[in-house]
Formats: sequence, C-alpha cells, structure tokens
Amino acid sequence: MKKALPLAALLITLTPMTHSAEPSITAKSFGTTTAGQKVTQYILSNSKGASVSIINYGGIVTSLKVPDRNGKFADVVLGFKTLADYEKKSPYFGALIGRYGNRISKGEFTLDGNTYHLAKNDHGQSLHGGLKGFDKVVWNATPVETKQGPSLKLTYVSKDGEEGYPGILSVTATYILTNKNELKLVYRATTDKATVVNLTHHSYFNLAGQGSGDILGHVVTIHAGKYTPVDDVLIPTGKLAPVKGTPFDFRKPTAIGARINEQNEQLKNGRGYDQNWVADKLPGHLGMIARVEEPKSGRVMEVISTEPGVQFYSGNFLDGTLIGKGGKVYKFRNGFCFEPQHFPDSPNHRNFPSTVLRPGETYKNTIIYRFSTE
Ligand code: BGC
Repeated sequence: MKKALPLAALLITLTPMTHSAEPSITAKSFGTTTAGQKVTQYILSNSKGASVSIINYGGIVTSLKVPDRNGKFADVVLGFKTLADYEKKSPYFGALIGRYGNRISKGEFTLDGNTYHLAKNDHGQSLHGGLKGFDKVVWNATPVETKQGPSLKLTYVSKDGEEGYPGILSVTATYILTNKNELKLVYRATTDKATVVNLTHHSYFNLAGQGSGDILGHVVTIHAGKYTPVDDVLIPTGKLAPVKGTPFDFRKPTAIGARINEQNEQLKNGRGYDQNWVADKLPGHLGMIARVEEPKSGRVMEVISTEPGVQFYSGNFLDGTLIGKGGKVYKFRNGFCFEPQHFPDSPNHRNFPSTVLRPGETYKNTIIYRFSTE
C-alpha cells in the first residue's frame, strides 16, 4: 500500500514551477558617447523573472530575457556589448525609431504648401529619421514603478529643423515590462508646427535565443489581407495589394522560410521580406497584428498595436560582419523585426493614413510584444 505523503511534501509537489519575484529596476553605467554624453543602462525585472535592459542612448533595448516552455530564460534580441558598437555599426538593433520610421521617397515631402528636404541616408531616400535619428540621440530617462510592472520613461525634445523636419517635437516613450511578460511601449508626441511623425521599435528578434542561427523556422501569422508593394529602393508604389495567392499571405501560420526564396519581384526588391502589411484591425485601436512561434523553444511572441501597419523585415541585410553580445556572429536572416507603424512614405501618398501632427494634437501610439509559450 502507498504511504500518504505528508502535507508539506504534497504542497511542494502541487506548486507549479513558476518564477515569482519582486519587480525591480536597477541602473548602471553603459559608457560615454563619442560626444561625451554619459549613457545609463536600466534593467527592468518583472514578477515572473523576465527582464529587459534599455539604454538611454537611442532608447535601445539591449537585451530581453523571456522563458521557453521549460521555464528556461534566453535573451531573444540581437544587440552589442558596447556603446561604441551601437554608435558605429548598428543596423538599428533594438532602437527607438523617429521622427519617421521607414522610408520617405527622395527625402522630400510637402505639407501645407511648404516642401521639406530631409537628411538622405539610404540610396537617396530618408530612412528611420535620417543621419541622426532618434536611435542616435541621448534621451532623458526616469525609472517608474507602475501597477503593470517596472517601467522607464524616456523623453526627448527634437529641435525645429532637426534632420530637416519642421517643428519642435516633444516626445515621450514609456517602456513597461508588465508582470504578464509583455514589453509595452507607449509613445506620445506634440509639436509647435505642422509636421509628420511615425515612431516605432526596431528589435531584431530570434525566439530561439539571439545568435542561435537563422529565423527561417519561426512560424508567423500576420492578420493582414493587404500589403504595400515597393519599388527597388523599397518605396511603396502606392498600391494596397491583396496578399492572396502571394508569398505575403501569412493569414495562416507559415514558416518564414517556406516561401522566402520563391521567384517573386517583391521578394527580390526586399531581398526577402521587407514590406509593410496593412493590418486588418481598425486603425487607432489596440489590436492583434501578428503572432510568431518558435517551434523548438515553444516561445511565442504576439504583436499588438494601435498602428495601421507593420513592417516585417527578415534580417536580409545581416551578412555575418556584425559580432554581437557573447561573441555571436549575426549572419543572413539571423533576426527578424516586426515594426508596427504607419505606412512607409505616407507623407507622399494621399491614400495612406495620415502621419501629419499639428499643434494642439497629441500623437499616440502603443506597441505591445507579448511573450508566452506553446
Ligand atoms: C527596413 C530595412 C532596413 C532595416 C535597417 C528595416 O526597418 O525595413 O529595409 O534595412 O530597417 O536595419
């Protein structure tokens, strides 16, 4: 006959293997920029033991540790060990992107009859805010404990004319690591002159762990029936094309690698996936845009946002020349980005949702990366 277990032993057996900890925020130096500005790294840990590290240079997420299906934590974002590497060679790893995420054709747009000329930094186009975008400036940072979890409030005031954009733009970006294992990013901006704004987040994810190889086996769902095809310098043609019958149809879960090498003009233009999808959900409303699952670790990331679109970029410009954290070499397609945003080049397309911000209005954008396991 089996002997009954004492009550204490029973309790131990029944307690699930979950982490529970006091949420915390710690800060340490991350060096000094070449211009002499001090940079701090903030480490936010939530009640489940997940953590995110953020530096106030570029609002960059330098690490994000979440559990796999066995409770084992791994860092799921690509990044560098030193500030010098972020300053010199980063392809926007983990960065806060602005004033305008994605491309503006020929670095030009006209608003209220005035034509503005932006800094061009990508084959004659303006990409991710220009030569010194929000990813390359030092933000003011204030750690704040919130009910949802530990958070960091970043603020920056962009001068009138910075990188060619009109208006003094006052920006707040609050990063919260919620106790539900979500990285929640809340952006707000106001201006003193009519301008355009399109902020986003640029982490390169690998849910099997950063530096563990390519991301082609990740299974992606994108809730989008249309996308915005691009020309060979990745500027939208202006069409909203149906994804049906193309390698851009991710309405059913599909591995990134399943169709990426097909003969297709759009895949050729992007050297893989590097397009903007038109989210099915209502613009301005927080809704599910995408879901990514990594079958081996069981890690799942859901992408939730208020934005009307999402750039899905499959890391096609990574080529093995960048050495990241822990000496990892980042090769072709070793990371992917999901950047919820307004459509690329919106200031030059009247049929795209507007990115214009006027005095008295508040720009609002929320992005949530929600982590779980399958
Ligand atoms: C763009 C890519 C670009 C990358 C820069 C992405 O948001 O879509 O075309 O190369 O950023 O690292």
